[in-house]
Amino acid sequence: MNDTYITLNAICKRYIAKNGTVEALKNISLSIPKNEIFGVIGLSGAGKSTLVRCINLLERPDAGEIIIDGEKLLQLSKEELRLRRQKIGMIFQHFNLLEQQTVLSNVCFPLEIRGIPRRERQEKALELLEKVGLAEKAQCYPSQLSGGQKQRVAIARVLANDPDILLCDEATSALDPETTKMILELLKEIHDTMGITVIVITHEMKVIQEICSSVAVLENGEVQEVGTVSELFTNPKSRAARRLLLLEEKEDAAYVG
Ligand SMILES: Nc1ncnc2c1ncn2[C@@H]1O[C@H](COP(=O)(O)OP(=O)(O)OP(=O)(O)O)[C@@H](O)[C@H]1O
Ligand SMILES: [Mg+2]
Repeated sequence: MNDTYITLNAICKRYIAKNGTVEALKNISLSIPKNEIFGVIGLSGAGKSTLVRCINLLERPDAGEIIIDGEKLLQLSKEELRLRRQKIGMIFQHFNLLEQQTVLSNVCFPLEIRGIPRRERQEKALELLEKVGLAEKAQCYPSQLSGGQKQRVAIARVLANDPDILLCDEATSALDPETTKMILELLKEIHDTMGITVIVITHEMKVIQEICSSVAVLENGEVQEVGTVSELFTNPKSRAARRLLLLEEKEDAAYVG
């Protein structure tokens, strides 16, 4: 049950910008078991988004290896990679919905790309909207929805391709605490019922605490610590982890005070 599903082996990524070179990922190695909700936490600029973009090769690392379910991603042909990517869903902080399309069309979109007949894709899209609790909004446009509802649509859309991996890059960062909780609950339910391996990228310890079982702490493009969430909270080993825990505590104190 706990065998490794996603392996990142010594991933390096550097960006060459006008004002110099940025080492966004320095020798990142991680093993993520199947069916886990795995967290990656770090402050802004730590390299979190670069890391998730490397997992599905939206970004090609300069060095290293990505192995998913025994398959070396960097060795796949273009067509093989396209098919593999269909099974790796991604959701974002700003939802990335098609604003000119209805909620239903948004969810149908990936099915349309795959050439699924109209009736079949509408049926599936409606089922998925029901799953995320938004069936009654099928004919609305994204602008008529709240942030939490928009993220639900994005989740329904990403499920249309029956992904086996779901990458969530700050998926709740634009939402208030209560809505965040509801979206995290939905992600957990999807994970539990559909057997999807979920990778949650966040800068908030609360998000990690809420749904992750294991977590990697990222700072300056380096993994500072990896372990179970309970280990991290009870016995943080790295300075980066202690800093993140302290930041959260201060925020809570300010909130109460
Ligand atoms: N396309 C790019 N060109 C140049 N530098 C980049 C590019 N993308 C990212 N970087 C740099 O790489 C580093 C890591 O960026 P990344 O977006 O992965 O961080 P992050 O942890 O996701 O931050 P945030 O929490 O703000 O989203 C940063 O220093 C960033 O400026
Ligand atoms: Mg980011």
